[in-house]
Amino acid sequence: MSTSELDAIDFLQPGPCHQDPFPYYEYLRAHGPVWREPHNGVFMITGHQEGIQVYHDSTTFSNCNAVAGPFGPWPVPLEGDDVSPIIAQYRDGLPFSDQLPTFDPPKHTAHRALLARLITPKRLKENEEFMWRLADQQIDEFVDRGECEFVHDYAGPFTLLVVADLLGVPESEHATFREELQGEHRRIGQTTASADSPMDHKPLGFLYDRFTRYIAERRREPRDDVMTRMATATFPDGSLPEVEDVMLIASNLFAAGGETTARLLSAMVRIMGERPELQKQLRDNRELLPNFAEETLRLETPLQSTFRLARIPTTIGGVEIPAGATLMLIPAAANRDPREFEDPAEFRLGRPNWRQHLAFGFGVHACAGAPLARAEARVSAERFLDRMADIRVSEKAHGPPGARRYEHPGTYMLRGVNRLQLEFTPVG
Ligand code: HEM
Repeated sequence: MSTSELDAIDFLQPGPCHQDPFPYYEYLRAHGPVWREPHNGVFMITGHQEGIQVYHDSTTFSNCNAVAGPFGPWPVPLEGDDVSPIIAQYRDGLPFSDQLPTFDPPKHTAHRALLARLITPKRLKENEEFMWRLADQQIDEFVDRGECEFVHDYAGPFTLLVVADLLGVPESEHATFREELQGEHRRIGQTTASADSPMDHKPLGFLYDRFTRYIAERRREPRDDVMTRMATATFPDGSLPEVEDVMLIASNLFAAGGETTARLLSAMVRIMGERPELQKQLRDNRELLPNFAEETLRLETPLQSTFRLARIPTTIGGVEIPAGATLMLIPAAANRDPREFEDPAEFRLGRPNWRQHLAFGFGVHACAGAPLARAEARVSAERFLDRMADIRVSEKAHGPPGARRYEHPGTYMLRGVNRLQLEFTPVG
């Protein structure tokens, strides 16, 4: 792409650049690890160290615009030496203002602690046992055909039902959740962000109704189950949250943990399907799977970017940032920072710093579901390798090696194929 073509890209608008954003990230990087792009006046953070600095400083930077970015809406201009009073007065009008990722301390600290009570080590262990069972159930649905469309047949339902199980949704209701959240009318890709509408709120309506009911029921009639523990969990100060607070935390896990993980799984299986020698190496050395998942997260970062708002003037990477400025943190670009990762565009197992990527963010807002996502990746990869020999990307659907065609979501926020047609030889 020529420099003038890159100059013309308004990255926050839908466009073909989102199918392959990496040339644009390198264009940003050529202007420095922190650069104010001219179309929206947003400070783009592509540096690894600079990203960590921003993630780390939840005093200077607010998360109120984490989803909305520079698109407000703010009824008054963000002017002055400290925009904190404007944030406090108007943050409730921003998209997703009722969701944990947009909270700031101290509210964030209290709600995050509540979430930590839902994702305990014991719960994660039980949830992983369910994952092994679920992976086989999903695979049983298509394995004999010798082919599948991975996103719809496996990754979508698998990641959805793992969260449902984590929250104690009875298995008898799993089919309803699958239909409501991923039925024909709600294929993956339709609940995702775009510049016009950062996220479709509608599927959350079903979750809001269900979880309000579950929590209210368990508070009236406690049982010995996961939902009762969720319904009766308290804030660190001992107070009982409103039903709505718990409902929002539970519902948000579907939005935060479904599509992101589905896109990670798809990236992993796509890479296995495209690289038979790597697939063989993984088959024969299963202990490499965690490393494989992390390298995929680094190179194919499912949540490509997020936003922050500067409350006061500050400096990052030598660049002055005024109060009221929007920053776009781009972990997908930071994960290819050559100052941090040698030959950053190369897929390489066994990098010494393979855990240093920022795909799960960093600091107080770092992904609360990272252990879950990692377990889902390991369990899925193990069961695919066990039950399928010679996993291949379909040439008919995606073209031959060297000229593959994939469709990614047309947004700056998410990356990962919308469809992945696979062929394989069933084992056993
Ligand atoms: C590969 C899969 C996943 C990726 C790449 C991912 C990525 C991220 C990132 C980058 C953030 C921080 C956003 C920011 O700083 O603005 C985040 C936050 C979060 N993630 Fe994940 N996530 C994944 C899976 C999950 C899962 C499975 C769950 C739970 C079921 C989950 C729950 C959350 C929650 C609740 C937050 C908000 C945390 C907070 O604001 O304190 N995520 N995720």
